[in-house]
Amino acid sequence: MSAQTTTKPPKGILLAGGSGTRLHPMTQAVSKQLLPVYDKPMIFYPLSTLMLAGIRDIMIISTPADLPLFRRLLGDGSDMGVTFTYREQPSPDGIAQAFVIADDWLDDAPCALILGDNLIFADHLGRQLREAAARPTGATVFAYEVRDPERYGVVSFSADGHALDIVEKPTSPQSNWAVTGLYFYDGRVREYARSLKPSSRGELEITDLNRIYLQKDDLHVQRLGRGCAWLDAGMPDSLMQAGQFVQTIQSRQGLLVGSPHEVAFRRGFIDAAALKFYAQRMIKTELGRELMKIASTLPQKDAVAA
Ligand code: G1P
Repeated sequence: MSAQTTTKPPKGILLAGGSGTRLHPMTQAVSKQLLPVYDKPMIFYPLSTLMLAGIRDIMIISTPADLPLFRRLLGDGSDMGVTFTYREQPSPDGIAQAFVIADDWLDDAPCALILGDNLIFADHLGRQLREAAARPTGATVFAYEVRDPERYGVVSFSADGHALDIVEKPTSPQSNWAVTGLYFYDGRVREYARSLKPSSRGELEITDLNRIYLQKDDLHVQRLGRGCAWLDAGMPDSLMQAGQFVQTIQSRQGLLVGSPHEVAFRRGFIDAAALKFYAQRMIKTELGRELMKIASTLPQKDAVAA
């Protein structure tokens, strides 16, 4: 069977490396992705997103110094019904390097990659993610309108809405649509990632990987509309805004944002007893009490995630 038509379940990569220089001195001793975003470590948010997509086999990639800390926080994944594999990125040589690092582990499975500082919050996000994960061939990226597209990979569209080009951090952006740090690829991603050459800034660019799919007319660009929040928490202002956003939604609605344990329960990865066990350990916190309430009151068969 060719890699293209593989029926293997998708795997997930969570890239939590980098030196976090834009958040110094906060990140001199602590990894950026472990900093708090309101009441949870930052990595909980992208992790919840992968799990919402139905992904249960997840590789965490980080620096040699930080990897043990992620392991201490997340363990083997059994309390959330997933399996974590940990792997080092010795030096930050680009996002697409994740696929080179994960090459043997991927084994031609389709794969989603999410950046550890990306928070996505949207109505019906789970459905969109599961659709992307179920697409048998090609790649899916998500585009979001921003005021400062030059900071991102930028996708331009034809009049009939077809993706025309993607450019990394363009000086004159052709649109305001930034490509978010969440990507879904079919089983060919290993092969394509191996063919990448470092860019002028010396990195294996995720945008170059996406351009390979685009050139083959195999890139699906899903636009996230105005009712959706995509936040990156990579700078002091955006970190603060992300925390305030989560606090606002949680305190106003009484619904959790970015809890992998809640997602695990709602997706049926763990049962109520397992969720209660975790919640009891956190019971001195609002998060723990909220999880306990969910485990105690929600019939799991109705517990369909957003
Ligand atoms: C990276 C990607 C860019 C993407 C962004 C999303 O940028 O290179 O294409 O739009 O993540 O967060 P970086 O965060 O490395 O500047």
